[in-house]
Amino acid sequence: MKVTILAMFLAVFLSGCGKGEDPREELAKRQKIPGYREARIFCTQCHKMPDSSRHEPSAWPDVVTRMEGLMQANRRKVPTAQEREAIIGYLQSPS
Ligand code: HEC
Repeated sequence: MKVTILAMFLAVFLSGCGKGEDPREELAKRQKIPGYREARIFCTQCHKMPDSSRHEPSAWPDVVTRMEGLMQANRRKVPTAQEREAIIGYLQSPS
C-alpha cells in the first residue's frame, strides 16, 4: 500500500518536471513574432523587455503612448508610426 502511494507521488512529480517550456525555446519563439525586433530596439532603451502578458491587448497602445512621452522627454529614439504599430502588434500577440 505504502509503495503504491509513493509510486503515485513519484509519477506526479516526474511528469510535473517535464512541463514548462525551456526558457531558451520560449525566447526563440518570441523572437519570431513580428515586431519583436522593433520592441527590442525601442523598449529596452531604459528598462528590460516588457512582458506582453503584463497588460490586456487593448491597454498596450496607451502604455506605448506614455512610453513615447518618456522617450521624447529623455531624448531617446522614438519609433516612427510604422515601428509603433509593429511594437504594439508584438505586445498584443498571444504569449
Ligand atoms: C525613455 C525611457 C523608456 C523607454 C524607451 C521605454 N520605457 Fe517603459 N518605462 C519607463 C519608466 C521610467 C517606467 C516606470 C514609470 C512608469 O511606469 O511610467 C516604465 C515602465 C514601463 C512599464 C511598467 C508600467 C506599466 O504601465 O505597466 C511597461 C509595461 C513599459 N514601461 C513598457 C514599455 C514599452 C512597451 C516600451 C517600448 C515602446 C517602453 N516601455 C520604453 C521608461 C521607458
